[in-house]
Amino acid sequence: MVTATERNELIDRLERTVEPEQGWIPMFVYSDPDVYRLELERVFGKTWLFLAHESEVPNPGSFVVRDMGEQSVIVGRGDDETVRVFLNSCRHRGMKLACEDFGEVENWRCPYHGFTYGSKGEFMGTMRGAPFERKAYPQGLDKDALRLIEARCETYDGLIFATWDRDGESLEEFLGDARWYLDLLFGRAEMEVVGVPQKWVVPSGWKLPSDNFTSDAYHTATAHSFLGRLGLTKGVDFGRDGYHVSPGHGHGLGIGIHFDEESYFPPELQDEYRSNLSEDQYKVLSRLKNLHGNIFPHMSFLQPNFIELGGRKVSGMMLRVWQPIGHDRLQVWSWHLIEKNGPQWWKDAAKAAYVQTFGSSGMFDQDDTENWELQTKNANSALAREGEIVLHYGMGLEGEPLTEFPGPGAVYDGKFSEAAGRVYWRTWLDLILAGERS
Ligand SMILES: [Fe+2]
Repeated sequence: MVTATERNELIDRLERTVEPEQGWIPMFVYSDPDVYRLELERVFGKTWLFLAHESEVPNPGSFVVRDMGEQSVIVGRGDDETVRVFLNSCRHRGMKLACEDFGEVENWRCPYHGFTYGSKGEFMGTMRGAPFERKAYPQGLDKDALRLIEARCETYDGLIFATWDRDGESLEEFLGDARWYLDLLFGRAEMEVVGVPQKWVVPSGWKLPSDNFTSDAYHTATAHSFLGRLGLTKGVDFGRDGYHVSPGHGHGLGIGIHFDEESYFPPELQDEYRSNLSEDQYKVLSRLKNLHGNIFPHMSFLQPNFIELGGRKVSGMMLRVWQPIGHDRLQVWSWHLIEKNGPQWWKDAAKAAYVQTFGSSGMFDQDDTENWELQTKNANSALAREGEIVLHYGMGLEGEPLTEFPGPGAVYDGKFSEAAGRVYWRTWLDLILAGERS
């Protein structure tokens, strides 16, 4: 436990040393235990957090169990079809109501004493709410006082988000200009999650991968150079051509563009894409060869670079959450999504590509994970904690956004820029500084 004075000193130190606009970030912020405690309260306790895709809770009573910060929550579709998010905690003694990862239920019944809740979070009350209710509570139980604690929940393009901030900005305001680009991946067609998400633990602070997906196309030519060395690609410049986008609010993305005549996406899906996207969005999708990004703080997405598989061009889309489980550990959640109405060849090939490239068996993930693990070790070192190690975030500091690009936000020509990364850090710092000093 830190004292109030130590905590105030830490906040002062962050205000003094985190300098996004100058392009300098002290390395201790990636894994410091006290910084992590502040983040749980001021970042994860305040901002919108991605939890699930609507296709994971298709029916009344379907639910999945996720985390907001370190708090377990139930994302469930009620018997009125509405998706809600509840703290996964019985109102009686705080036991987890749902101990499984997903399921379909009529009621949630606490495994400890049997208190029972309906799919809209309501305590079931007389006879059905608590065992031996007439004997144990002859005076009756107040149903309203025992409702499950509910987070504010909104969706965009089938992506379910929730926040504990009941009076803050709407999800649409929070996503802002990033929505135009999210549409290219999640709104271009009816999408569905394939199987269940893969999960694994990485000994890394959660901001390293988030930051990587926000603004780091630069690492691909070095960290993933095996592609070129093994002859799987012609060179290692797949991360170079395209655009870097800083849509604001700490979100960031990069778009890789090809110069071929035909779209790399299946011809069978073009009509659906056209009906869901604006003309400008459709044009960008038709030239797309990869797209990476991060929605602040920790939801990443990737349409990986198209590769040749069985004579066709294929890319297996993924969605990520870098779930913090400590100051220097995270749990990766990795989903694969596909067009529900896509042809079977595309579904099969995209899944094969996803499994080969990313996910727990993916060739790329192994490269990235080793970097994040070894960076975290350095961030934990005595010199980093003393503030001696300060990292350079100055790429593209002089760059001017394009005026011609059809999509919104600050868009830079070429993918090599850390502009969105600097806004990511500014957003993070503003949230940390926004809370009270005790
Ligand atoms: Fe990578």
